[in-house]
Amino acid sequence: MGKVRLLPPELVAKIAAGEVIERPFSVVKELVENALDAGAKKITVQLEEGGKRSIMVRDDGEGMSPEDAELALMHHATSKIQTEEDLEKILTYGFRGEALPSIASVSKLTLITKAQGYEGISLYVEGGKLLSKRTVGAPRGTSVFVKELFFNLPARRKFLKGTKTELEACIEALVRLAIPKPQVFFELSHEGKGLLLLPPASAKERVLLLFGKDLEDKLLEVNAERGSLRLEGWIGKELYWGNTRGIYFFVNDRYVREKGVLQILNEVYSDLIPRGTYPFAILNLKMPPEEVDVNVHPTKMEVRFLEPEKVYTFIKETLKGLLGKGESVGLFESLKTENLSFQLEGNLKVIGQLKEGFLLVEAPNGLLIFDQHALNEKILYERGKKKRFESNPLLFPLVVELEEDKIKRILTLKGFLEELGLQFESFGPKSLCLRSIPSFLKVEEVKEILHQIGSLQEGILEMKLEEILKLFACKGARKFNEFLPQEEILALLKEWEELGRPKTCPHGRPLLWEISERELLRYFRRPS
Ligand SMILES: Nc1ncnc2c1ncn2[C@@H]1O[C@H](COP(=O)(O)OP(=O)(O)O)[C@@H](O)[C@H]1O
Ligand SMILES: [Mg+2]
Repeated sequence: MGKVRLLPPELVAKIAAGEVIERPFSVVKELVENALDAGAKKITVQLEEGGKRSIMVRDDGEGMSPEDAELALMHHATSKIQTEEDLEKILTYGFRGEALPSIASVSKLTLITKAQGYEGISLYVEGGKLLSKRTVGAPRGTSVFVKELFFNLPARRKFLKGTKTELEACIEALVRLAIPKPQVFFELSHEGKGLLLLPPASAKERVLLLFGKDLEDKLLEVNAERGSLRLEGWIGKELYWGNTRGIYFFVNDRYVREKGVLQILNEVYSDLIPRGTYPFAILNLKMPPEEVDVNVHPTKMEVRFLEPEKVYTFIKETLKGLLGKGESVGLFESLKTENLSFQLEGNLKVIGQLKEGFLLVEAPNGLLIFDQHALNEKILYERGKKKRFESNPLLFPLVVELEEDKIKRILTLKGFLEELGLQFESFGPKSLCLRSIPSFLKVEEVKEILHQIGSLQEGILEMKLEEILKLFACKGARKFNEFLPQEEILALLKEWEELGRPKTCPHGRPLLWEISERELLRYFRRPS
């Protein structure tokens, strides 16, 4: 007997599903895309356990007739294309007819749908098998309930991450669909708690709602046209992130990963933001569908341009033109000189970092040894006093849970915290929704700070505010055991000079030990 055999259809289906449906966020993406393709004006997404337990997507789009609904669950059944030519000019999100059957083959799926002039129908499919079918009363539109994703693929299920991680991926998937469709109402909740509420808005309002209002004067509008190409969106002026999370590139409203565009952004921003960071950019390239192939990857996250050179040149020149016009950022330019030691007034010269905790600096009259944490703490403290913290909007609002009495205390300090760049709203009795945080703090550090502020003793307000400032400074300062790049050492010293060379940290400990040249000479018994 030969060894080559045809696989049973269920197994084929499972393998195919694995390509399209990787994790819960893939289900969210596919179902919301279907809703958008069906012309929905409002889309509701409800998740449990980060989508691992259940995902529900409801829309008010055109719905399906009972016959279509059954067909839609079959592989390669689609209403979006019919001929080979259609494949060359795709403007819908879907066209492969793979999503619904794939999801259905690896979950317990209920599809309820109703189209104008037809009865509503409810179908239940478990592991790809249609188990029940009945007519139901329903408003026009479609709801899909996906329970226990990968219940029949334990190997896949094992690879799912924690609830928080899966939830974040689902939010991100929705954000990528919501940005280019501001006219559609999106709603997302997790275990009954609302996380995103995006009413119809202008494209700009949608972006500000998602990424924070304080971005408004830091964005440059992109709106350019060349031949058959159009580029729309916004790019940040002085905004940067440690990763590519602030970069969204769309081709005809479809979010795609494009290495070429990343490279272009890197290049046009190279002098404007610190090395190793990424800018904020939302770019939607509109082009005739026949000039781009979206059928490259099962999840359609990659595209191929018919004339890549033309596209890249257009994008690059557009962005360069925009950024060139604006005033450029001072600080990072001034640090780019060759010989760093001559940067500082007062003729200071950085010798280096000792034990990743001390900074050694040569001064005209001797040696300065700084405690890097204490120095940084002092600088942040003084900046905070003058309300000079830069604030970075979070890519999506973050919910922090705290005890009720802590929340109450924090809310009484809201005004002050906002002046320090921490923007939030109360979000039910036991949580806060963070929108923007000081740029020198990590999300985890902000959470710790909030816990500590929540536990501050009742007392004189002034003293509390002082405590909070110190808390921000201490959490945000570089640690004692941390490598500091040369540029950062210089920036710290520069600010130290501007502050009039203070000698103690906010807690009153020394931040600096000065050894004069005279002391050095005396120690080595050299004549001075
Ligand atoms: N939410 C929905 N509203 C209306 N029709 C839908 C919806 N979801 C799926 N369909 C129909 O089911 C078909 C199959 O969906 P899917 O498997 O995602 O494939 P594709 O989107 O690639 O066509 C779609 O072509 C569409 O006709
Ligand atoms: Mg689809």
